[in-house]
Amino acid sequence: MTIALTALTIQAQVSNATPVYLDENAPIEQRVEDALSRMTTAEKVKMLHAQSKFSSAGVARLGIPEIWCTDGPHGVRAEVLWDEWNTANWTNDSITAFPALTCLAATWNTDMSAIYGKAIGEEALYRRKTILLGPGVNIYRTPLNGRNFEYMGEDPLLASRMVVPYVQEVQKNGVAACVKHFALNNQEVNRHTTNVHVSDRALYEIYLPAFKAAVQEGGAWSIMGSYNRYNDQFCCHNKRLLVDILRGEWGFDGAVVSDWGGCCDTEEAIKYGLDLEYGSWTNGLSWGLSNAYDSYYLAQPYYNLIKEGKYGTKELDDKCRNILRLIFRTTMAKRQGFGNLCSDEHRATARQVADEGIVLLQNRDNILPINPAKLATDRCKQGDIMTLQYVVPTILVVGENAKKPLTVGGGSSSLKALYEISPLEGIRMRAGKEANVEWVRGYVGTGATQQDGMIVGAELEDHRPAEEVRAEAVEAAKKADIVIFVGGLNKEGHQDCEGVDRLAYELPYGQNEVIEAIAAVNKNIVFVNISGNAVAMPWLDKVPAVLQAWFLGSEAGNAIADVLFGDVNPSGKLPFTIMPALTDYPAHQMGEEVYPGVPSDKRTKEQPELMEEYYREDIFVGYRYADLSPKARKALTGVTCKAQPLFPFGHGISYTTFEYGKATISGNQVSLTITNTGKAAGKEAVQLYVAPKKPSVQRPVKELKAFSKVALQPGDTKTLTFTLTEEMFQYFSEQQHAFVTDKGAYTILIGASSADIRTQVPYTVK
Ligand code: BGC
Repeated sequence: MTIALTALTIQAQVSNATPVYLDENAPIEQRVEDALSRMTTAEKVKMLHAQSKFSSAGVARLGIPEIWCTDGPHGVRAEVLWDEWNTANWTNDSITAFPALTCLAATWNTDMSAIYGKAIGEEALYRRKTILLGPGVNIYRTPLNGRNFEYMGEDPLLASRMVVPYVQEVQKNGVAACVKHFALNNQEVNRHTTNVHVSDRALYEIYLPAFKAAVQEGGAWSIMGSYNRYNDQFCCHNKRLLVDILRGEWGFDGAVVSDWGGCCDTEEAIKYGLDLEYGSWTNGLSWGLSNAYDSYYLAQPYYNLIKEGKYGTKELDDKCRNILRLIFRTTMAKRQGFGNLCSDEHRATARQVADEGIVLLQNRDNILPINPAKLATDRCKQGDIMTLQYVVPTILVVGENAKKPLTVGGGSSSLKALYEISPLEGIRMRAGKEANVEWVRGYVGTGATQQDGMIVGAELEDHRPAEEVRAEAVEAAKKADIVIFVGGLNKEGHQDCEGVDRLAYELPYGQNEVIEAIAAVNKNIVFVNISGNAVAMPWLDKVPAVLQAWFLGSEAGNAIADVLFGDVNPSGKLPFTIMPALTDYPAHQMGEEVYPGVPSDKRTKEQPELMEEYYREDIFVGYRYADLSPKARKALTGVTCKAQPLFPFGHGISYTTFEYGKATISGNQVSLTITNTGKAAGKEAVQLYVAPKKPSVQRPVKELKAFSKVALQPGDTKTLTFTLTEEMFQYFSEQQHAFVTDKGAYTILIGASSADIRTQVPYTVK
């Protein structure tokens, strides 16, 4: 008895002496060094690469936990099997699907980013994840990019402001955000083989700012290298991007994670900034082979090089420091709460972001919002023999996207949502007894019934010829009081989908023909575009109302109904420019060298598919191109293009009207009043652009430098004040390798979109 007690006492003494690395109150750097000092070389190497599809090893012996990652930007992905992409069929991993990031960007409201980050961070924490693989901030360079829906649009300032609160709020949960895909991953076609050539100026002014903001202001604890190459090196181990810029210039102290299979070379990975290798299929082994993990570039091959004496342990220690730091900030941090899943609050967040992100592009004759009582009156006026009280109007919903689950598909951002309200369900629930809501499909998409192991609507299977399906819709439209066409893209291959780009700018599945045919028999037609990309709209003059509705997540149908019926006044604005034709985008004017790239002269046996791509439009992406005169456009691309945007960057209308007062300036403060001059409460995203008068180098006509979203009751006026900072007047000088201030005369432009400037005021930078 006595002996046993002594043994217990000794044990207790041993476990009472908490080592520094386990002390939650100790400074992180001390914990890192202490943990590192206790690890063997083998344990260190083990920490640098995956052990399953989404996890990497900790040090079990020391109680240092594994790292568990999850996609992605719009919701916490379902569990997959240990070493397969197939679903693990858990029953407790359904989540809230939040709107895609294009929608978040379209809110132009940083408060929306904050509630989004908080909610998705809480879901990731509840699901016990260390790293959330998002958000994505690659710039919208071409509307064909299959992954634009996962990103935040064409403008670096908008993306920067929106990404910061997302990252901060996710990380308050002790879950690391992983900003992706660093960098220049602006298309999906040839994403593994393309070597991007871009000027330093475009790199620093257009493609890097949102990453920099996420790192420096958001304090992102991890970042994901992209698949493509830049400067003849893969971005997952790229000296310029990871060593010189990310760590050197920006002071990043988090962990660099490879995209899944993005690491391609052991020695480059050792030297050029990669910390954590995931998803590789490794040379010499077949793709996805089980237990290939030991053969990962940062696994046994690295260990062997250390054993052979080719490398010491300096790089190894640095990589482990970055990973340990991430662990001490997340799973081993003090008090991080427990998170929660599918709460009422998350549901409300999903709906609020969707409500604020939907963009009303046009609304001729104010056909929206839908007013069932008015539809009934109109029918009687047209000679319906029934008396008004008996007339129930018919709302005809047309289109596969009104029913198709769209939280599923699209690649790694595919979700297993606890529920998803389809547009048809949302419209039906809202209409209630006030209107009959009917549905016809109008067109047949690819009709997939399964995506990512999930059933996506078997009832959508339809083998009738397109003409028959279209004719059915036209017949139904003749009898309807209003037609809501819910179309756009979906998340199948070559739509909005990872791994491949769109093949055309036009709407797929013959939707244009259906829209034209319906518009010919019913003038009351609304087009609801579900997509993360711009599409051609050749029928625009025949369709009075157009709504850009994005991939909206669990609350999609409710949010669309909120806006269609006017329960929510739309306040979203476009985060990208919609040009009439694909050839109106500069990336599509200069041949294949500029998109999608051309076969490289540097192809070798090891790199047989290498492509080269030149971003010759340089800094003139999106509205920066649309703003140019035809002459300046021709000088840039060699192509004559007089096209004006169908809908410009920053555009979005409301059911009310806003009057902008005259801007005044005092010191570096620009002020103006905004008044709601209509009859509905509403919100307006007020945009401030800076236009140099006589720049010393070629510069965009104007650039977005600030924005503010203001809520106003009818008749209300608010004063907005923007502070001008030196940064707003800078451009990146390649000679000086720095942002420099261009002194002289500027105009400060304030407006409702990039093409709707309401007030301006001169300003001189001394
Ligand atoms: C994607 C990443 C994603 C990863 C893990 C890759 O194919 O590019 O964005 O996080 O897979 O699913």
